[in-house]
Formats: sequence, C-alpha cells, structure tokens
Amino acid sequence: MMQEFRNARLGYAPGAPRDGKAAWQVLSPEDFARAQAEITAWPGYAPTPLVSLEALAKQAKVARIEYKHEGPRFGLGSFKALGGAYAAMRVLQRELSARLGRDIALADIRAGKYAEACRAITLVSATDGNHGRSLAWGCRNVCAPCRIYIHAEVSEGRAQAMRDLGAEVIRIDGDYDDSVAVAREEAAAQGWFVVSDTSWEGYSEPPRDVMAGYGVMTFEACEALDAVPTHVFLQGGVGGLAASVAAALRQYWKDDAPRVVVVEPDRAACLFESAQAHAPTAVEIAEETIMAGLSCGEPSEMAWEILAEEAQDFVTIPDSIVAPTVRLLALPQSSDPALEAGESAVAGLAALLAARCDAGLSVRLGLDATSRILLIGSEGVTDPEIFARIMAGEAA
Ligand SMILES: Cc1ncc(COP(=O)(O)O)c(C=O)c1O
Repeated sequence: MMQEFRNARLGYAPGAPRDGKAAWQVLSPEDFARAQAEITAWPGYAPTPLVSLEALAKQAKVARIEYKHEGPRFGLGSFKALGGAYAAMRVLQRELSARLGRDIALADIRAGKYAEACRAITLVSATDGNHGRSLAWGCRNVCAPCRIYIHAEVSEGRAQAMRDLGAEVIRIDGDYDDSVAVAREEAAAQGWFVVSDTSWEGYSEPPRDVMAGYGVMTFEACEALDAVPTHVFLQGGVGGLAASVAAALRQYWKDDAPRVVVVEPDRAACLFESAQAHAPTAVEIAEETIMAGLSCGEPSEMAWEILAEEAQDFVTIPDSIVAPTVRLLALPQSSDPALEAGESAVAGLAALLAARCDAGLSVRLGLDATSRILLIGSEGVTDPEIFARIMAGEAA
C-alpha cells in the first residue's frame, strides 16, 4: 500500500453499540417505504452501480470491497439527490394539505397539479453543496422557489451548479454551522420553510424525510449484494448518511447487520467527539477539510440517536490520504474499473486502506482477510475543477 496510507495518523474511538429501537423508530420501516415508493417513481430513476473492487481488496488483504457508486444518481452527482428533493416534496405536501384542508398526494404534486400553489411556498436550506443541489432540483421540479445559504469556503463551481437549477444562492461569512443558523433565522422572519438535512431540538420532520430518502440507496445495495458484508464504513458530516444506512441495514439484515464504522475528517470530527462524550457534541472547525461534504461541526441529533446504538467504531482521517484515494479509484493499477469520485466519497475507503496498514487498528476494527466491506461512494465528480486539481496532484 502507498506510503501516504502507511504514514497516516488515524484517530479511533470505540462506540457503545447496544440493542435498541432507534434503528426502527427514529426511521421506521414505513418512513423508508414511503420514500422508496415516491423516489423510484421519479423520471430517470435507476439504481446506481454496486462495484466490486477485487484487485483493491486483494491489495488491502480483505475478502471483498463493494463500492456503491452514487456519481450517476439522477444526474446530480451524489446520493444527496435522494434526500433534499424528497424532503422538499414532503414539506410541500404537509403545507398544501394544511392550506387546502385535505390530504394532498405526493404523486399529484409531482405531476404539477399544484404548481401554482407551490410558487408561493419558498423552501430554504444551508448546504456545503450536495444537499442544496438536491433541494434546488426538487424545487425546480415542482415550481417552488428555493434559497440556498452557503458558507465562505463552498467552491464557486458548487454554487453555480445550484444557480443553474434555479436556486437563489446566498453566500455568508463563517462556516457551515453559521450558514445553518442564518438560514433558520431568515426563514423564521420571512415565513419560509427550512428543508435541512440536519435536525435539532423541535425540528425533525424534513431531516427524517431526508434520511428516509437515502434508504433507496441502501436497499439497492442490499438487493445487489450476494453476501452480507461484515463491515460498512460510513463517512460522516452531520451523521444523516451514516445513521440512515445503519438503520436500513439493521432493518434489512436484523442481527446479521454489518459492523458500522463511522469515518470523519480529523478537522470536523463531531461524531467522533460525540462517541467519546456519549452525547451529541459540537466541535469548532478551525480549518476546512478538503472533504467539503463532511465539514460539519454539529451532529444531527436524530442521526446521533441511531448512531449511538448502531455504530461500533469511530475513526478520523487526515486530509493527506484523500487525494491519493481519489487517484487510486480513478486510475486503478489493476483490473478494477476506473471510478470518478469526489473528496467526500472516498473517506470510507481511505480509512479502510490506512487501517489495513496499521495492524493494531485492524485488530480494533475486527478487520482480517475474511472481511467483506461495504462502502458508500457518496459522490461522483461534483466539482470538476477540484477533481482536475486532485488528478494533477495539485490538491493536498
Ligand atoms: C458526498 C457526501 N458524502 C457524505 C456526506 C455526509 O452526509 P451527512 O452530513 O448526512 O453525514 C455529505 C454531506 O453533505 C456529502 O455531500
């Protein structure tokens, strides 16, 4: 394995997994089923590929590496296409039902029956790129106005992708957590509706729908796998992806569900800190990580409820192994197919490869030659300029 992986310093904190109900109650089978019924009816729906990286598995001395490649998802470049767009429809469904005094069906909103009424309902969110893109796309599909708040470090390429989908993009000073706060304040003042992928006290319906939407991806992977994985490595921002996948895997495989390893950048390790404190814990982001989608300082409370029961391990990785992992996937030195992935997509794989260079960490994670690893390649090339810099060896 390459020098960068051997030299990498990873952080490790054990989780405290236990039998509980969060994987069934915070996200219920009905929540997943409702999202699945709607999203699989959208035009252009197709399962994303599950790619077996056989040569890389051999190199990492594990039995299997299965990589769920979310690059092609609805032409939006990431798994987030499943969350924000669906949650937007659910907000509109609840609001239209309240305004019109009867139950409104998602299928009718999708078909444009309420386009006029949707024009009067503004949806807003903060984002570091991918969630906003999903929300902007969802709003455009149903004619609802969309305002997206981004922080100082979100790349211009990602901002433009949201403008191209018709969203008004507002750049604020500060970091991701500041952008969440501004979106909340302005929405409260203006009567707009926040469609966030993170939850906080008293705010849970849209983030629950966002996480339910991600279930489409997990169930596709479950159906495509021919053996139950022993481990799933899940990258964490606010924790919505990891919690949704962990809950869906538990519901699908029950007691046989794989061991959940949560992976975060060491510069934004709020889930890692939460594991150590046994409670949702915020961290200060002193320096932005290259993994833009994972640069979140505050965990989603609902996500944490699930991860507290389901996650066995929490790992942090340095930025130094991200670009090498992107290049490894894009330019495989073997028979594996080439895959184009963004910085946040590869965090799980980067952690796996570095852990396999560290005998002690491999033992702690229960990794050996029989391990079958599921990875969520959560984005494709969502910012071509950054990807080009990584491929040219210019990005750290
Ligand atoms: C590509 C990508 N992967 C993973 C994540 C992490 O998801 P979450 O914030 O739900 O933990 C994000 C979040 O934006 C993302 O964009």
